[in-house]
Amino acid sequence: MTEAWWRHSVIYQVYVRSFADSNGDGIGDLKGVTGRLPYLADLGVDGIWLTPCYPSPQYDHGYDIENHTDIDPAYGDLDDFDQLVAEAHRLGLRVLLDVVPNHCAITHPWFVEALAAEPGNPARERFHFADGDGDAPPNGWRSMFGGPAWTRVPGTSQWYLHLFTPGQPDCNWRHPDVPEMFAKVLRFWLDRGVDGFRIDAAQGLFKHPELADGDEPGADELTRDAANPNAWNQPEVHEVYRGWRAIVDEYAHSDLGDRVLVGEVTGLAQAHLADYVRADEMHQAFLFDLLHVPFEAGEYRRAIDRGLALAAQTGSAPTWVLGNHDTTRVVTRYGGASLGAERARAAFLLLAALPGAVYVYQGDELGLPEYIDLPDEHRADPIFRRTGGRQLGRDGCRIPLPWTSEGTSYGFSPDGAQAPWLPQPPWFAAYEADSQQADSASTLRLYRDLLRLRRDLELGLDTPLTWLDQPPHVLTFARGDLVCLVNTGPDPVPAPDGDLIVASRPWTSAAVPPNSGGWWRMTRSRPRPARLRR
Ligand code: NOJ
Ligand code: CA
Repeated sequence: MTEAWWRHSVIYQVYVRSFADSNGDGIGDLKGVTGRLPYLADLGVDGIWLTPCYPSPQYDHGYDIENHTDIDPAYGDLDDFDQLVAEAHRLGLRVLLDVVPNHCAITHPWFVEALAAEPGNPARERFHFADGDGDAPPNGWRSMFGGPAWTRVPGTSQWYLHLFTPGQPDCNWRHPDVPEMFAKVLRFWLDRGVDGFRIDAAQGLFKHPELADGDEPGADELTRDAANPNAWNQPEVHEVYRGWRAIVDEYAHSDLGDRVLVGEVTGLAQAHLADYVRADEMHQAFLFDLLHVPFEAGEYRRAIDRGLALAAQTGSAPTWVLGNHDTTRVVTRYGGASLGAERARAAFLLLAALPGAVYVYQGDELGLPEYIDLPDEHRADPIFRRTGGRQLGRDGCRIPLPWTSEGTSYGFSPDGAQAPWLPQPPWFAAYEADSQQADSASTLRLYRDLLRLRRDLELGLDTPLTWLDQPPHVLTFARGDLVCLVNTGPDPVPAPDGDLIVASRPWTSAAVPPNSGGWWRMTRSRPRPARLRR
């Protein structure tokens, strides 16, 4: 038996702007990514997901796209992109791109044309333009990033819809040009060799045709999630993903296997989420539960059971996530530099033992905390501005990475470069990658060890996970002859009776300390598991 690569792969999320800057302008770029691919191959991941690097006015750092088939000059050009893909493939790494179908940028030629046109002109029908109610917007929908979901066209009675920032007008998916354009966009990048797509706000695209307020028009702003039932998850969206699945299936590599769709589907109950990963739709959808639950065994177990059940029900693969560019970094969520760092290591040890795919957010392998004290004048996330500073936004998890202890911006840029686009705090020096490479007790080395073992022991495969008896606050399960135990409680707990093969941190007693975990090999023999397909 072989399993398709995406079912068990570990994919590293590259937030391009903050990963590595090759030309010294203080902004991460594609050449910077290519230069660091050996680091990622050495880390032991199977591929990368690149956040949007298309031409963009950067109202939402690239999730506002002006041209879907080019590269923003700040990040390089199409030649740089081709070189990145070629080098990644040479190193055995897959490359996923971010596709953003719900909205584009106000500088996209379609929107420029629509704004210049008169009300009623067909150019406006590719978006949602509507007359306001006097000085009020057409309905009471609120934007996920704060404020009304409508912006008035100056000097007119018309408004346009944007579920995110005013720089990101929502596309009208009932207009035939829109699906046609996105099908071409997918083909453009598939022809350039990408291995798949992460689909942004995948539960979006269609709105209820009447744009009615419904019971909860302000739900998105309140929850900062896709919660307004008339703005999201309309039944028509599934036809789009069936079409996209047919396209990527048509492009399956003869040598490298499937090209895949992974959905960012948020704000939905599990039953609705399942619809998106039916056999003829997306291959997988992120499981975001672990972003939201505390470091607690019972919560973890429920989240894992939900993820496994979803995969079993749909035939999809569980797709575990502990961090991303939209969420406070895991170390900080779990209690900060010392306590949170220990817990985050134990949490990744747990993730690495699970069947399915794992997504790693850049910098989590360095144990980076959130930069909470980033001075307000540097905050660039539109959420900060649009909520009047009530929400700090996502800059703190997007700080340019530290690669070295010295030099300009800790090696993020070459020496003598401009300041990085977001300032790094001085304490970033303690997290830089070079020293961690050389330190066997570092978080980076733990990630590397876990990923090597996960691959060698074929833990990503869809083989059974069996929960074992456990005291409160302890999570223990077996995968074949491997036992994983994580202690989330306040007291040490007895270690399983086997050989410890990896621990989230060193300990000396026979007991597993709080906020720690390990993998043990039990002595009974088991048949060889199926081979992973590379
Ligand atoms: C989800 C992305 O992850 C986030 O960064 C972005 O702001 C929104 N979608 C809008 O595209
Ligand atoms: Ca640069």
